[in-house]
Amino acid sequence: MRVLVSGGAGYIGSHTVLPLLEAGHEVLVVDDFSMSKPTVVNRVEELSGVHVPVHALDLTDTEKTDHLFATERIDAVVHFAGFKAVGESVEKPLDYYTNNLDTTFSLLRAMRRHGVRRLVFSSSATVYGDAPVPYREDHEPLVAANPYGRTKVMIEHVLTDVARAGDLRVALLRYFNPVGAHPSGRMGEDPQGIPNNLVPFLAQVAVGRREKLSVFGDDYPTADGTCERDYIHVQDLAAGHVAALEHLDAMATPVRAYNLGSGRGTSVLEVLHAFERAVGRPIPHEIVGRRAGDLPAYWADPSRAAEELGWRTERGIDDMCADVWRWQSANPEGYPVG
Ligand code: WQD
Repeated sequence: MRVLVSGGAGYIGSHTVLPLLEAGHEVLVVDDFSMSKPTVVNRVEELSGVHVPVHALDLTDTEKTDHLFATERIDAVVHFAGFKAVGESVEKPLDYYTNNLDTTFSLLRAMRRHGVRRLVFSSSATVYGDAPVPYREDHEPLVAANPYGRTKVMIEHVLTDVARAGDLRVALLRYFNPVGAHPSGRMGEDPQGIPNNLVPFLAQVAVGRREKLSVFGDDYPTADGTCERDYIHVQDLAAGHVAALEHLDAMATPVRAYNLGSGRGTSVLEVLHAFERAVGRPIPHEIVGRRAGDLPAYWADPSRAAEELGWRTERGIDDMCADVWRWQSANPEGYPVG
């Protein structure tokens, strides 16, 4: 298939372009580079040996988006583009609702006008709110605790309605906690500013860009008192997109949600210790108070993706940390500005 990857220069998008190419698909990247650097695509080309066409485009521009679909043959869209910082979404809710929803509407209109029927969407386990664990795809109602999460819930509803009305097949991929990097050390996560998430922060402490990790709370009702999450290697996550894309035409219903997670919870201290093993030395850290809004523990029931997509995770927390460290130590400041 000829696949348009929106947000294809971002962390998960760029890692997904590689297995799409390996599976024999053609890829067009669309990105506005507001959250990523164009040099990411050079690394994708270096690792794949394939030229990847890039369209620098803000998808909220409906005319340019339509023009792209009018001039390129596109068989499917994998839609990653979107704002994703939880804290920032509380500060700037209108920016989040506008950007995340308008890009999706613009894509959907162009897809309908040009007869593109296949869509894979980046959703999030955040749509489960505080559902009982493990999270299962049939849980309702979907509720999120912040504006970022609510954009994912809203888009899931929009896509579900549009798919049920006909002419669109949609896989809603609910990611758990993506971490890791390409094992070559040439690609990885390159957050702007101070990282919000655990593993990118740990990596910057290990490389000397930050003084120490703050562990947010050790008085949760978990085995070691720190929060548990379902961490998934970005390469496993990327493979899940290829599996979902190739299953779209065979899905029993026009829209289907899939959890992409391992089914296991790992605590903050377990991640810290795995990272210390990867680096080979202790990492400075201190226990501080809880972070507002954090849930104690959640993980996926990944059985639907296993049964229907034939997909499951293959890499564990030590692989994730080793790959992140290879990337971070070789690229302490992330991708070059180019
Ligand atoms: C993991 C654990 C923290 C940083 C978030 C979003 C979620 C999803 C993924 C997109 C928690 C602890 C963290 C630090 C710490 N995004 N922590 N010190 O919160 O599970 O999920 O990103 O959909 O919507 O909420 O991930 O990596 O921020 O935190 O102790 O400096 O690490 O308290 O227990 P989270 P995270």
